[in-house]
Amino acid sequence: MESRTIYELFDQESPIATEMRRLYSNIRHIHGGDHLRSFLVTSANRGEGKSTVASHLAITVARFRGKKSLVVDADLRRPKLHQIFNVPKEPGLLECLEGQIDPLEAIHETPIENLKIIPAGRKVQSPAHLFEGDILSEIFEKIKFYHDIVIVDSAPIIPVSDPMLISSEVDAVIMVLLAGMTPRNVALRAKNILTDASAHLVGIVVNNLSEVLPYYYDYKYYGYSDRHKEDL
Ligand SMILES: Nc1ncnc2c1ncn2[C@@H]1O[C@H](COP(=O)(O)OP(=O)(O)OP(=O)(O)O)[C@@H](O)[C@H]1O
Ligand SMILES: [Mg+2]
Repeated sequence: MESRTIYELFDQESPIATEMRRLYSNIRHIHGGDHLRSFLVTSANRGEGKSTVASHLAITVARFRGKKSLVVDADLRRPKLHQIFNVPKEPGLLECLEGQIDPLEAIHETPIENLKIIPAGRKVQSPAHLFEGDILSEIFEKIKFYHDIVIVDSAPIIPVSDPMLISSEVDAVIMVLLAGMTPRNVALRAKNILTDASAHLVGIVVNNLSEVLPYYYDYKYYGYSDRHKEDL
């Protein structure tokens, strides 16, 4: 069977689309309007739903708010967004970090109006050091200047340092937890890494992938923001 990409599957009436609209709306209201324009989506560990949340959130913002949006695949180890959006994997962020190309040259169109993408780029063995130089700030300065909203998918926080370094380049961080799977102490450790790096953690998305939350959460996602952040 031919695989279908996210824009073919995205249904604006679906529970996930509704949940993403709620998440974005909560973040905007709780944190005072539209001044939050760049977001990092991360999690404590692998496979908690970062790429899924980042891509759905990006589509939601582009479609429903009509903002000029950019989604960036900063998970150079396990890149995923090029598959989700069916675009070439390179050139992408890796080539920008290496200084080979200008960030604007790494931008690809998506089939969704108002949404563009910077994919991960070529695969390299150990990309960690690339995030440590000044070039990361230069890249983000430029892409933020040319877009209303930037949403970044990243590696998990605990095993690698890249997301922590990226967190200083964005206005806000959204953390994804896997309901029933992410242990409390692990989630706390991830939160502390971010707050020690002065990241602005604005929300937690609880991904109810294994449907461990009760029925009234009614779907696989239950996004919430701020209020529960302190309770982690
Ligand atoms: N709420 C959900 N409902 C259905 N499938 C989901 C949900 N969340 C995640 N998935 C699926 O689970 C898998 C892992 O999700 P995803 O790739 O978003 O996680 P990730 O945190 O980005 O993983 P990695 O650490 O490997 O980058 C994917 O196949 C995705 O389609
Ligand atoms: Mg991912």
